[in-house]
Amino acid sequence: MDFNFTEEQLAVRDAARDFAQQVLLPGVIERDRGAIYPKEQVKQMAEMGFLGMMVSPEYGGFGMDTISYVLAMEEISKVEAAAAVIMSVNNSLVCWGLEEYGTEDQKQKYLTQLAIGEKIGAFCLSEPEAGSDATKQRTIAEDKGDYYLLNGTKNWITNGKTSGIHLVIAHTNPELKHKGINAFIVEADWDGVQIGKKEDKMGIRASDTTSIMYNNVKVPKENRIGADGFGFTFAMNTLNGGRIGIASQALGIASGAYELAVKYSQEREAFGKPISKHQAIAFKLAEMATDIQSARLLVHRAAWLKDQHLDYVMAGSMAKYFAAEIAMKHTTEAVQIHGGYGYVAEYHVERLMRDAKITQIYEGTSEIQQIVMSRMIEKGTLY
Ligand code: CAA
Repeated sequence: MDFNFTEEQLAVRDAARDFAQQVLLPGVIERDRGAIYPKEQVKQMAEMGFLGMMVSPEYGGFGMDTISYVLAMEEISKVEAAAAVIMSVNNSLVCWGLEEYGTEDQKQKYLTQLAIGEKIGAFCLSEPEAGSDATKQRTIAEDKGDYYLLNGTKNWITNGKTSGIHLVIAHTNPELKHKGINAFIVEADWDGVQIGKKEDKMGIRASDTTSIMYNNVKVPKENRIGADGFGFTFAMNTLNGGRIGIASQALGIASGAYELAVKYSQEREAFGKPISKHQAIAFKLAEMATDIQSARLLVHRAAWLKDQHLDYVMAGSMAKYFAAEIAMKHTTEAVQIHGGYGYVAEYHVERLMRDAKITQIYEGTSEIQQIVMSRMIEKGTLY
């Protein structure tokens, strides 16, 4: 077992770390407070290749592996989880889904723009009544011969306002349940696409999350992804990889808070010594370090399995489940270690604590990850 990274992977991690510290850190508090989309910063991320990291160079991407991607995601999430989710959705859900299952024409037309961040992607699965229970799609795409007529509403869509390209999941034949679902590529400026207001969120406030309404949108037949009825499998397979991205986001949020807590506790004195030397704090730090390193190993294992083209469904859910749980737990501890300072924006940990919560919710709640894992266990996959 080799725990070393290649020089290329380390260079990607270091570039992401420098970018996060030098470009994202200044202004992160203001963007969070004002829920201001990091427009300039996302542009720079695109220029650095962070929006199409794993896309093949043939389609304008950077052809990197999943390990490089999770290393970069961790560094960016340590500082601005809102920027990281924009990156994660574009890479893992939109670019990956298109490259894996799109036709050559779809890739030439859409993936080439997404890989360089010329357009940002949105993954439109969730609905007012279909969050965890993703088969209950109310959005309907009616087959009209040479096009589909799309009607419905999607909720909580990351990149809702800023995206130019949507991957939309919709029923074409509700009687067939999940086998009557399809996935479509929809352009944001087509007639009938209406973007709802930006949600006022607890965390990842700078990212734009909106509802999207599709009212009689004509989707050309050639914009369906895969064979008729492939949409639910498309969504599930795409989310299996997306969960590795969110696991690395949760890991970054946790490690960012931990590193701030270590620094603060070594500088802050109480009862005659740095608080890090009091067992009440020292034991917390030891537990945080253990959990974070465990989460990191799970995330890297899931990424490695994906790179080896081995089954990563269980590993991805396990990584997301654990990383999200410890992110919530230890960002809360980081606030506690900071005491009163932890409760104010300037010290960053309160933002990380608010950001952590969403990782237990999106791309499948923690409970959904437990469902995915328990079904894998039933089928004979122990770990
Ligand atoms: N991978 C591949 N296929 C899967 C799968 C998986 N993880 N889970 C289920 N499937 C397949 C099954 O094999 C089955 O296919 P067949 O009939 O061909 O055998 C089919 O899907 C239906 O399976 P189930 O009967 O098990 O489906 P279910 O309805 O009981 O439950 C679920 C499935 C796992 C709970 C699923 O609904 C799910 O993952 N829900 C969560 C949805 C989710 O993650 N939403 C996130 C929204 S996107 C987002 O958050 C992006 C963002 O903005 C950041």
